[in-house]
Amino acid sequence: MKIRTVVVGFAAAAFSMMAMAQAPIVIKFSHVVAADTPKGKGSEFFAKKAAELTKGKVKVEVYANSTLYKDKEEMEALQLGAVQMLAPSLAKFGPLGAKEFELFDLPYMFDNYKELHAVTAGPVGKALFKKLETKGLVGLAYWDNGFKVMSANKPIRMPDDYKGLKMRIQSSNVLDAQMRAVGAIPQKMAFSEVYQALQTGVVDGTENPPSNLYTQKMHEVQKYVALTNHGYLGYAVITNKKFWDGLPADVRSALETAMEEATKYANSIAQEENDKAMAEVRKSGKSEILVPNAEQKLAMKKAMVKVHQQMADRIGKENIDAVYKTTGFDPSKL
Ligand code: LMR
Repeated sequence: MKIRTVVVGFAAAAFSMMAMAQAPIVIKFSHVVAADTPKGKGSEFFAKKAAELTKGKVKVEVYANSTLYKDKEEMEALQLGAVQMLAPSLAKFGPLGAKEFELFDLPYMFDNYKELHAVTAGPVGKALFKKLETKGLVGLAYWDNGFKVMSANKPIRMPDDYKGLKMRIQSSNVLDAQMRAVGAIPQKMAFSEVYQALQTGVVDGTENPPSNLYTQKMHEVQKYVALTNHGYLGYAVITNKKFWDGLPADVRSALETAMEEATKYANSIAQEENDKAMAEVRKSGKSEILVPNAEQKLAMKKAMVKVHQQMADRIGKENIDAVYKTTGFDPSKL
């Protein structure tokens, strides 16, 4: 009887050890936007590739739409190790002490994705990721969303139209300065709270790429959407450095490949997703679409571009100049 008990005990222990040995490494990937967006689709693609390339050794669980954490909490959760991967917008690294990321928020800094990719893949993009390591994080990739539109309950065509409007922004001081440059009153607020804030009139308007505007139904509570394309919104996919460095080398390398493929995929669908979202907004007839003419475009640009100089100390003049050199933009020629 005794021997039987011992044998059964051993068998149970061996079984649970085997089960433990086979248990996949879980990566919780948290984000704040809808699944049907460039970031939502990119993270799902990564989850699939990670399982495939690690032969099931890694299980990526994607939590969309702030189901786990809101913007600021998300960063804290990653640093504490409660989640292993995030893709916050580049506008959300300031509170972490990596304020140079706000370079990407500068209005009218980039005209297209090509210019952006030249910067993210170049020395500036690499130096920003290096900086993350001092915060216990590793930057894995830059993912695109797109160029932002403005929305409000009154027509917004010229800088003066923004005067006194309470505009929701992300947690970026550059975006704060951008809104003030046209006389608006910026309000920093978590993404998950924007729809209700617009609906109840806590804020009057906001900015986001069409994919976010549409999937959060913001256009249903905004009378006007202006196709300003005044700034870019994209992401850095980040992980906890301790977690990442602690992975078996073969697993880490497979995940790097999965991330490279997911990045190509996410960046290849970004424009199309935003175009589709804008077409849906138009089709819904819920808000009037304002297409700026040449005079309105120039007036907005002139009013907002002064933010580049205002924010040079915060972001680093050398970083701003490096972008000008890459893109050929010269604000003095406006
Ligand atoms: C926002 O807060 O408006 C965006 O950062 C949301 C996102 O992640 O695209």
